[in-house]
Parts: sequence; structure tokens; C-alpha cells
Amino acid sequence: MTSPAVLADGLVKSYGQVRALAGVDLEVAEGTLVGVLGPNGAGKTTAVRILATLLRPDSGTAQVAGHDVMREPDAVRASIGLTGQYAAVDENLTGRENLELVGRLLHIGRHEARARADELLAAFDLSDAGGRPARTYSGGMRRRLDLAASLVGRPAVLFLDEPTTGLDPASRIALWEVVAGLRRDGTTILLTTQYLEEADRLSDRIAVIDGGRVIAEGTSTELKDRLGEDVVDLRVTDASRTGEALDLLRDLAATAPRAEDSAGRISLPVHHGAGILAEVVRRIDGAGLELAELSLHRPSLDDVFLTLTGRSAEAAAAAEPTPSRRRFGRRSATPEATA
Ligand SMILES: Nc1ncnc2c1ncn2[C@@H]1O[C@H](COP(=O)(O)OP(=O)(O)OP(=O)(O)O)[C@@H](O)[C@H]1O
Ligand SMILES: [Mg+2]
Repeated sequence: MTSPAVLADGLVKSYGQVRALAGVDLEVAEGTLVGVLGPNGAGKTTAVRILATLLRPDSGTAQVAGHDVMREPDAVRASIGLTGQYAAVDENLTGRENLELVGRLLHIGRHEARARADELLAAFDLSDAGGRPARTYSGGMRRRLDLAASLVGRPAVLFLDEPTTGLDPASRIALWEVVAGLRRDGTTILLTTQYLEEADRLSDRIAVIDGGRVIAEGTSTELKDRLGEDVVDLRVTDASRTGEALDLLRDLAATAPRAEDSAGRISLPVHHGAGILAEVVRRIDGAGLELAELSLHRPSLDDVFLTLTGRSAEAAAAAEPTPSRRRFGRRSATPEATA
């Protein structure tokens, strides 16, 4: 096996009192796409900035494309492309001028820079808009231009920091296709995202990051399997008896069952769900309870996130601790207030 294109080992980084990274290990095999999935404040951008040589870690080491990020930053920079969380295009230049400028900064000749700009404008469906100032572009066009700019130097390794945050669904799907195409063409990609669906769709492997730590890593299927094979969702008509129903069913669960919302929905991760459905019905009936809903589904990445962190991805994002709260060490596994 060749050595991984990206290898981070024990990265720690604090900003004053805020511990942004608390020992992050990451590995991206050559030619694969790893999704780093985590809520606001998890440490995604900090990790990407360290790997892209823009920030020094307090401790830990990292290699990108075979070069140490601290000892050989120039060699790392020559091998990577970076699309930041906020588009870095020059608003007053046209799309084509933006790309040509990057080419010139990379010291590829004027003629070559021009050709590369045209090629990328075409690839990103920006040929028609290429002569217009970037300030006239929509959000989706800006992201595509930004991504195109990071590809001018034909990087072997690409870092995409939340490439679709803030895009409408159609632009998001268009960008997914572009990213999937780059991955098919052999580019190694590390992509950060807050979207479970995005990580699920694009990634060969997923690292779930929370509170500056990787809390789970694997293929999407492996992560889903950690929950048990299936999830039985149910609700009893009398919501006030949800706790009673939960107690009746607890021993059927592969991992801790959850009562999710005020409506009294219960989620039960189970092995061999089909066989268990009949038993669920028997027990609920036997206790004189009535089922309002009963269904069986494969766990989603959202279920995985909830199990790993005790919070939904959305609640976690909403509950990003302020620096003063974060000072008190590890976050608890109980749901945080989202108000
Ligand atoms: N320059 C800074 N000064 C102080 N604190 C910072 C700085 N940059 C980041 N932080 C803090 O470090 C933690 C990790 O931030 P980071 O930007 O890496 O998270 P993220 O996962 O990229 O979040 P988001 O999804 O919101 O972009 C957060 O608590 C954040 O408030
Ligand atoms: Mg970020």
C-alpha cells in the first residue's frame, strides 16, 4: 500500500483558552475522498488550515503528498488546492481574469494560464459568464469559480472546506457532481461538511469530528452498522405512556433506544428488524397500549451522529459553545439546550 496522501497525527491547536483541536488523527488514501463531518465549531476549518500550511499546530504532525506540513510547507503548497469556507475570488475581476491571475501567481506562462482558464471555465459551466466581473455572479457560480481557481495548478490533493454551505439545493447538487468528477479523475480530496447527506453521497470514508476530536471513522456503511442493522420507529397513541413503552422494549435494542421528541416517537436500533417487529407489537398489545406508528428503516448518518454525540447534527450546530463555556472541558453526551 502506498502511504496516504494526507496523514495527520495528534493535531492539537488552541486559540487562547479555546481548544479548537484536541488531538486529531486523519488519513486520506491517495485517490480517495474523505468527508470530515462535524457541526459548527467542531474544528474542521482549523484542521484544514493546518494541513494547508496556513496555521501551525501546537503539537502533532501532518504530512500531505509525502511532505511534512511544518518542515516542507513549500512542497506541500505546490501539491495542494484549497477552497475555503468563504469564497476567495476578487469581486472586481472577471471570472477569466481571476483564473488567469492564479495561473500567473503559480508562474505558469501567460499563454498556458489563458488556456487553463478557458478549460476550467468550460468545465465549470462558466464560459458564458467568464467575461463578467465576479461580483455579478450568484453564490453557486462564485463557489464554482473558487473551486476552479484551486484547480489551476492541477493539485494532487484538494481541500474543500464546506464547499456547499449556503448554496441552494440545485447548486449543491451541481457542485456534488463536479466534486465526484474530480474524485473519479484521481484527485485526492478532503472535504469538510455539516451535511450528513453530503458526506454520505461523496465520501469513500467519513471522519466524524466533534469538539476538536475525531469521534468515529469508517465508511458510511460501517458507521451505520455501528448502530445495529435497522431502526424500528414507533409511537404509542397515548404519548404520556411513552416511557412505559420504552421500558417494555429496551431489551430488544442493539444499543440504547431513544425517545426522540415530545410527540413520543421511540427509535429502537436493532439487529434483524423484521423478526423483532412482531415482538414489538406483541409487547405493546400485551400492556394494553396502542400503536399509532410503526416502521422499520436502515439507520441514517443522522442516527449515527445522534448516537455518537447524543445530539442531532442540527442541535449540535446550534449549541456551539462560546469560548467561555468551552473552557470547562469535554462536552457532555446529553442534549444541549438549543434555545
Ligand atoms: N481565530 C480564532 N480565534 C479564537 N477562536 C477561534 C478562532 N478560530 C476558530 N476558533 C474557535 O475554535 C473552534 C473551532 O473552530 P473551527 O473554525 O475550526 O470550526 P469549524 O468546524 O470549521 O466550524 P464551522 O462549521 O462553523 O466553520 C471554535 O470553538 C471556534 O470558535
Ligand atoms: Mg469552518
